[in-house]
Amino acid sequence: MTHSVIHRTEMFDAHLDLGGQPIELSEYATTGLVALAVAPRGQGKTNAGILIGEQLAAQGWVSVFIDAEDELESMYGDAVADPDELRHRLALRDQAIVVVAAKDASQFVPYGQAILEAADEHRKPLFVFVDEGQLFSAAKKRQESIGEAADIICQFAERGRKRALDLFVTTHRYTGTLHRTLFSNANLTLVGCQQDPTVWSALAPQFRASGIEFKDLNALMPGEFMCLARRGIEKVRLPMAAALQKVAPRSKVVRRTLPATFSQWDRAMRAIPTERLMALTDPVVELLGAIAGLTPQQMLAGARALGDELEIRG
Ligand SMILES: Nc1ncnc2c1ncn2[C@@H]1O[C@H](COP(=O)(O)OP(=O)(O)OP(=O)(O)O)[C@@H](O)[C@H]1O
Ligand SMILES: [Mg+2]
Repeated sequence: MTHSVIHRTEMFDAHLDLGGQPIELSEYATTGLVALAVAPRGQGKTNAGILIGEQLAAQGWVSVFIDAEDELESMYGDAVADPDELRHRLALRDQAIVVVAAKDASQFVPYGQAILEAADEHRKPLFVFVDEGQLFSAAKKRQESIGEAADIICQFAERGRKRALDLFVTTHRYTGTLHRTLFSNANLTLVGCQQDPTVWSALAPQFRASGIEFKDLNALMPGEFMCLARRGIEKVRLPMAAALQKVAPRSKVVRRTLPATFSQWDRAMRAIPTERLMALTDPVVELLGAIAGLTPQQMLAGARALGDELEIRG
């Protein structure tokens, strides 16, 4: 049997922008990407996975997002209906981002097998993002579906290299969550805020020589990670994924630009023509306030300013 030489030519010009120095994927051409993010809830792990998936999808990969929390369907369209549809998508490569809904290990297994088969058969660049990896993997090999799911994910990591399959897995803790094969194969790790000093003993070896201490990890904000890549360690602030940007900042921006206090409202009201002000009946104000996402305090201050202004204009 001949062994085909591995040409991951797509890696030669591709790169990732994780908010620091661009990561040249040519550095990963011989190994493939086995990436992990370790951080507690709400630190931006899901954003990290979809950010990488979006960037790779734009550079020729098909990105598969394993969605345990019904978070991603609303952003990227319906999840595939079943493993056969996933096979179909991976054969046709007609969709750059494919969402798989799997709430637990037993739901994941048939999709995981479909991914392995497709990678075996097509050997075209494929990126698999396993969010909430602790649901599908375990520290030790176990019976039942979690054992089977963990085994599939280990195979992604171990056999991906020859099959153009790149992997990103997120988890909450550094110990006791994922199979050690993943940790030992990882070649790009994002470590987010750490609150528990006892994890430092497991992390310290990786940060030795970098000068980074526990307090530096403890001080990381959401979206900030220590990025341990091939070429070294760097603190990064990840950009928001395009799909998240669309849903997340909208309400914040509106709140910042609308008046909040009585005097701000008063100033705003003075600039509005009388007939416009007259049109601001209670139901209209309620509706506009709800659309803009105003707080009750803002609504109250605005209503008072409006009343005063109308009174003055007689
Ligand atoms: N790079 C970032 N820059 C700024 N804010 C961010 C960034 N990443 C995430 N956030 C903020 O943190 C919130 C949580 O992000 P995300 O859902 O990715 O975290 P998570 O670690 O996956 O959380 P969980 O464990 O609950 O799933 C986002 O809604 C966003 O407001
Ligand atoms: Mg998440």
